[in-house]
Amino acid sequence: METSLFPSPDEKALHFCASLLQEGRLVVFPTETVYGLGANALSEKAVQAIFEAKGRPQDNPLIVHIPDISFLSVVTEKISPEVERLFSLFSPGPLTVICERSSRIPPIVSAGLPTVGVRIPAHPLAHKLLTLAGLPVAAPSANLSGRPSPTTFEMAIRDMKGRVDAIIDGGPCEHGLESTVVMVKENKVIILRPGAITEEMLREKGFEVVLPEEKSHERPLSPGMKYTHYRPHAEVYLSHHLDEKTLEAFCKGKKTAVVGISPPVGPWERVVFPDVASYARGLFATFARLEQQGTEVIILQAVEEKGVGRALMNRMRKASGNRWIEANDETFSQ
Ligand code: TXA
Ligand code: MG
Repeated sequence: METSLFPSPDEKALHFCASLLQEGRLVVFPTETVYGLGANALSEKAVQAIFEAKGRPQDNPLIVHIPDISFLSVVTEKISPEVERLFSLFSPGPLTVICERSSRIPPIVSAGLPTVGVRIPAHPLAHKLLTLAGLPVAAPSANLSGRPSPTTFEMAIRDMKGRVDAIIDGGPCEHGLESTVVMVKENKVIILRPGAITEEMLREKGFEVVLPEEKSHERPLSPGMKYTHYRPHAEVYLSHHLDEKTLEAFCKGKKTAVVGISPPVGPWERVVFPDVASYARGLFATFARLEQQGTEVIILQAVEEKGVGRALMNRMRKASGNRWIEANDETFSQ
């Protein structure tokens, strides 16, 4: 398939991409979290093409993106006061709320579930594209299944060129990790996937919050949580202490990178982020870059599980398979 690329998209390019969506075609677009692979959420055939382009399992539901709150009635027939409050406080933004699915959204979108994840993205290009298309747009992250979510135009091109009709450049994504996914149950907000809308932010607005159980072996509430996520070709480990001697013994003779806020100096590449938000923003792009350079071992410095740190730790646990360097750390070793 011929893919049209739109670096620095103008008004005309966005009109063209909106018309592609209306025709049931696939368009990769930037959001403030990660790039999304979008199609008309009202068309079963268009949504089917998303699963094919990504190689995504059919039982993993998609998030539906809408331009503003006025489209809520298209995607869901019943809006509880809590859901309404969540949207009015945190949207547009990096929050996905699980709602009751309306009959206009075909079951394929949410893998047959009676619910649907709904998000109003804040990225100006996403907002413009959705407004011009005038449709709810189903969009998973624009990576091939099992690869990191693209956070730059270049990463989106690498995975999706030849598989979609168009890719829109929006520069590097502001947050770099996928949206917070929440569900309201008995007046409590259950976080199914942590993201940039944090537990603390929700509590501050008076919500009672239930956190995901990171090591639970129960059937996941959010089907996507059960899939193996991005595992780079490199071996990835987490570490708390980054003790230089242990590190040196650990990565002897292997092309290694140590990533974090304060990686020690040593015979490895150091990838240094000034704070947790930048670390989160840059994680997936760092994986992509290190992979291209043939890095064999990636060591990720753990961060505190608060604020965005919780989402960052969630993605780093997945990328590392929750393998820790500290040999005798009973709490964290798998
Ligand atoms: O930031 C994001 O959310 C990005 C951008 C493009 O918006 N999208 C994204 O989509 O990350 P995806 O498909 O990669 O992840 C969607 C997650 C999965 O874990 C899925 O299982 C969960 O949301 N999800 C979607 N619909 C759901 C539903 N009805 N019930 C429970 N979980 C749902
Ligand atoms: Mg994804």
